Amino acid sequence: MKIFSIGAFLLGLLIILVSFPPEIYGKTCHPSGGIRGRKPPSGQCNTENDSVCCIQGKFYTTYTCSPPVSSSTNATLTLNSFQKGGDGGGPSECDKKYHSDDTPVVALSTGWYKGGDRCHNFIRINGNGRSVKAMVVDECDSSMGCDEEHDYQPPCPNNIVDASKAVWKALGVSLENWGDLDITWSDE
Ligand SMILES: *[C@@H]1O[C@H](CO)[C@@H](O)[C@H](O)[C@H]1NC(C)=O
Ligand SMILES: *[C@@H]1O[C@H](CO)[C@@H](O)[C@H](O)[C@H]1NC(C)=O
Repeated sequence: MKIFSIGAFLLGLLIILVSFPPEIYGKTCHPSGGIRGRKPPSGQCNTENDSVCCIQGKFYTTYTCSPPVSSSTNATLTLNSFQKGGDGGGPSECDKKYHSDDTPVVALSTGWYKGGDRCHNFIRINGNGRSVKAMVVDECDSSMGCDEEHDYQPPCPNNIVDASKAVWKALGVSLENWGDLDITWSDE
């Protein structure tokens, strides 16, 4: 019966490992799923400032995780408006308020937003040879999109720091290059 016990033990262990992968397997961030784009109803989806609208039938990968955070985390800086009527959609997730685009504020991809754990924390952004401190006020949703709540915009990639124009100004990026920049960031 001993062989049976060992067999049962190993099978049990295997089932546990498959069902609950240990942290080492969790270090790489895999997609959580995907959604099919829906055509925005007319008047929806603000395309100002190069915001992208969902394309009917296009597949968009979704994530609930982001790459691990270090003292120099690689990310892509994008431009967002946090003001009322801006391309950011509704008010900020952290405090349900709008924020002036003249203040350095950011939204982070879902995994980095951590369900609000970084709300009102400051992060340091390094890019274009300069550095700026910005406050986290919102989530750039990597897990959902292409619906009214997200202004019919696709889900956010999982490595985005979506920043107000004040951040772009502070980094000294010339206006024609606003929109997409390789940066690193860290918790302050
Ligand atoms: C971060 O980006 C730099 C420059 O593109 C690259 O050399 C480095 O390997 C990246 N680091 C990680 C952890 O992805
Ligand atoms: C577009 O960007 C400009 C400069 O940041 C800003 O003043 C304007 O409100 C933005 N428009 C929208 C719709 O977000």
